[in-house]
Order: sequence, then structure tokens, then C-alpha cells
Amino acid sequence: MIDALGSVGSLLLVGGTSDIAVATAHRYLQERPLRVVLAARDSARRATVAEELRAAGATVEVVDFDAEDPASPERMVAAATAGGDVDVAVVAFGQLGEQEQLAHDPAAVAALARVNYVAPVVVGTVLAERMRAQGHGSIVALSSVAGERARASNFVYGSTKAGIDAFYSGLADSLAGSGVSVLVVRPGFVRSKMTEGLPDAPLATTPEAVAEAIVTGVRKGRHTVWVPGAMRWVMSGLRHTPRAIFRKLPI
Ligand SMILES: NC(=O)c1ccc[n+]([C@@H]2O[C@H](COP(=O)([O-])OP(=O)(O)OC[C@H]3O[C@@H](n4cnc5c(N)ncnc54)[C@H](OP(=O)(O)O)[C@@H]3O)[C@@H](O)[C@H]2O)c1
Repeated sequence: MIDALGSVGSLLLVGGTSDIAVATAHRYLQERPLRVVLAARDSARRATVAEELRAAGATVEVVDFDAEDPASPERMVAAATAGGDVDVAVVAFGQLGEQEQLAHDPAAVAALARVNYVAPVVVGTVLAERMRAQGHGSIVALSSVAGERARASNFVYGSTKAGIDAFYSGLADSLAGSGVSVLVVRPGFVRSKMTEGLPDAPLATTPEAVAEAIVTGVRKGRHTVWVPGAMRWVMSGLRHTPRAIFRKLPI
């Protein structure tokens, strides 16, 4: 339960092995002991993350979640809430995909759309219903600046992020007055597993910086945050850049 100071007692990480999700758990653990539910595919990394969070003072539960399995969201949320309410749920799973390969592989495009769009909106729907019933909670959705204006170099990924950004923004408004809030997070380039081996983009940031923005954003009841904050103004400019110029930008 969230206490009078806005301190969080239970956290659900959907995509529990995500570097951003794990950094968020560590950031909350700096404040107080926490019940953390890791919803993720079974892997050695999931076991390692569980151990690290326990060592940092969390009570950890592990729940299976696979975004490619249509039955997984409902099963996962039921299992994650069986042991008590969830104060904050971070929807962090996702794949970047390789645009070059996607351009020639319709099946891979469909798979990416299922993992990055279909599963997050189903998870959001199930979480919202559960949190409405408990009367409180915050849902944090990992969108991306890539969804604000699609780029030729990763427009399949960008389109899925545009889709979930619209979904979670609308969900936020639909939940007004229910006690449940939704925070849409739009990071730029984050140095995480997802971007390993890629050169830094301008204003590159870290999972820890995204975690800080999540904790602050939830506490202040924000609807949308950019990480770093300057990305908001960069994207505002890029959204209005004429297409002929935008197409030639090295991004
Ligand atoms: N890194 C960036 O530059 C950046 C920028 C903006 C937004 N984001 C978004 O932030 C979120 C977290 O990304 P991150 O940077 O923390 O990257 P990350 O460490 O690679 O995390 C992504 C997670 O998604 C999980 N995942 C992938 N496919 C899955 C599936 N079918 N079922 C369940 N889980 C699945 C992976 O779990 P497994 O361990 O099972 O593979 C992985 O832990 C993503 O939604 C990403 O799109 C990232």
C-alpha cells in the first residue's frame, strides 16, 4: 500500500528482467523494503535479478510472463496480485527489432507488433481492471521518443511505441477519478541490454536516470515524462520539422 508520504510498498515489473525495470526496483528499494513481483520469461537472468533484489532488501515473487502467449497477461496479473495489491506496475517488456530484417520479413513484423503493441495493451487493460477493483495504483508504461515521429531507420518499432503511447494516454484519461493513475514514459536512447553494441544517440541516458524519472513522475502524478527532460523540446522540434529535412537527418 502507498503510505501518506507516497512511499511504495509493492511493485510489479512486467518484463522483470528489463534493465530499466530492475533499476526502478533498486531506486524504490533505496526508500524502504518492498514486495517485488518479477513477471518475465523463465531464464537465468530472471533468477539472477531475483537474487540481486532479495540482497537489496526486497521480498521477491517470480511469475511467468511471455508476451507472445495471448493467455499470459490475465494469468500473470492474477498470479501477481494473489499475494496482495500492487501499488505500482511497470510495463517494461519490449523488443527493438532490426529494421533491415523486418523490411523483408512479414512474420517478424507481426511478431514484433504482438510483443510491443498487442501484449502491452492487453496487459494495460487487465491491470487497469485489477487496480480499479483495489481502488488505487499506478501503471507505468515504457513508450519511447521513437513513437513521437517514426524514422526510416526503425519505424516498425516506432509505430508500436506510438500505438502503446496512445493507448496508455487514453487509459490515463479513462481512469480519472478512479484512484488509479497512468504514467507514460518516453525515454530517448538508453544504454541497456536493448541497445548493447549500438553507438550512443544524442542525449543518451541510463536505466538509473529513467528509474529516477519514473519514481518522481509517479509521486507527482505526472501523465507523461521524457528522459532526459530535454528530449521533450527536441521532439517538439522534430515533430514539426519538414519531412524533406527530417528524412535527411542522421537519426
Ligand atoms: N533502451 C532504450 O534505448 C529504450 C528507449 C526507449 C524506450 N525503451 C523501452 O523501455 C522498455 C525496457 O527496455 P530496456 O531498455 O530495459 O531493455 P531490456 O533490458 O532489453 O528489456 C527488455 C525486456 O523485454 C523482455 N521481453 C522481450 N520479449 C519478451 C517476451 N516475448 N515476453 C516477455 N518479455 C519479453 C526481455 O525479457 P527476456 O529477459 O525474457 O529477454 C527484456 O528483459 C522497452 O519497452 C523498450 O522498448 C527502451
